[in-house]
Amino acid sequence: MSDRMVSAPVRTARADVLLASVGERGILCDFYDEAAADIYRDILHEDSWEAAEYAGRVRGTAGPVLELAAGTGRLTVPLLDLGREITALELSGAMLAILRERLADVPAALRDRCTVVQGDMSAFELDRRFGAVVISPGSINLLSEAQRSGLYASVREHLEPGGKFLLGVPEKDTGKPDTLERSQEIPGGSGRRYVLHARLVPAERAREVTICPADETADPFVVCTSRISFVDADQVGRELGEAGFDVLERVPLVFGGGRHQDVLLVAAPSGDR
Ligand SMILES: C[S@@+](CC[C@H](N)C(=O)[O-])C[C@H]1O[C@@H](n2cnc3c(N)ncnc32)[C@H](O)[C@@H]1O
Repeated sequence: MSDRMVSAPVRTARADVLLASVGERGILCDFYDEAAADIYRDILHEDSWEAAEYAGRVRGTAGPVLELAAGTGRLTVPLLDLGREITALELSGAMLAILRERLADVPAALRDRCTVVQGDMSAFELDRRFGAVVISPGSINLLSEAQRSGLYASVREHLEPGGKFLLGVPEKDTGKPDTLERSQEIPGGSGRRYVLHARLVPAERAREVTICPADETADPFVVCTSRISFVDADQVGRELGEAGFDVLERVPLVFGGGRHQDVLLVAAPSGDR
């Protein structure tokens, strides 16, 4: 399967302005696309800060584990330490390529228990069932309401009796910050700097994010975009109920010792306990 599965980049208003000003140097891509892979690696935290909370709940289940939107394997590798078979499903070929590189560097005993699959978490069909299905924080927000409903249905179809669905979601996203638009400079691990521009689209209950190099002379000038839906734990809890799940636990996820912004929802198909 090719990287063409990644959806077309969101054409944000900010990206239009930037691309018009840099001419042929400009490249527009999705944040998880191949052209953005270096930027992704440069600016994202790769520490598995929430792994212990996930691992603790996965331990209470039996059988293979399915991780959806596995990305570069930030959470996959610590979960492999639990000694379980893991299927890591991810849409972007670029992310999967980094995940495969990462797996090549871990002991064979771990690597051999990991199956990597390119697929869409909102509509997937695998030929096995799982004791736990997990999704890291920051992923469900990439789906529209219709896609989330596809996600819940696909997960139900793939859980063993007694299986658990572990889902990281923002604790609260009111969609009402002080400003409609804001820009901030962010440093990359390489020393390069980037500008992150976020714009609210209240009518669509979403935020458009545009990231570009701070250096206006960069060539190529890679502009990457993403659209993040406003969903929070209450809303996802309601949606899970409508999709036939009971939420059993709501665990605060604490990033870097600070105030928590995400929670881990632990859900199971209704009547399945
Ligand atoms: C915020 S990243 C999280 C990656 C990884 N789980 C982690 O915690 O580092 C979101 C991931 O979701 C992937 N993604 C976006 N839409 C997807 C879809 N419909 N199906 C599967 N993966 C998707 C992106 O390519 C990206 O790797």
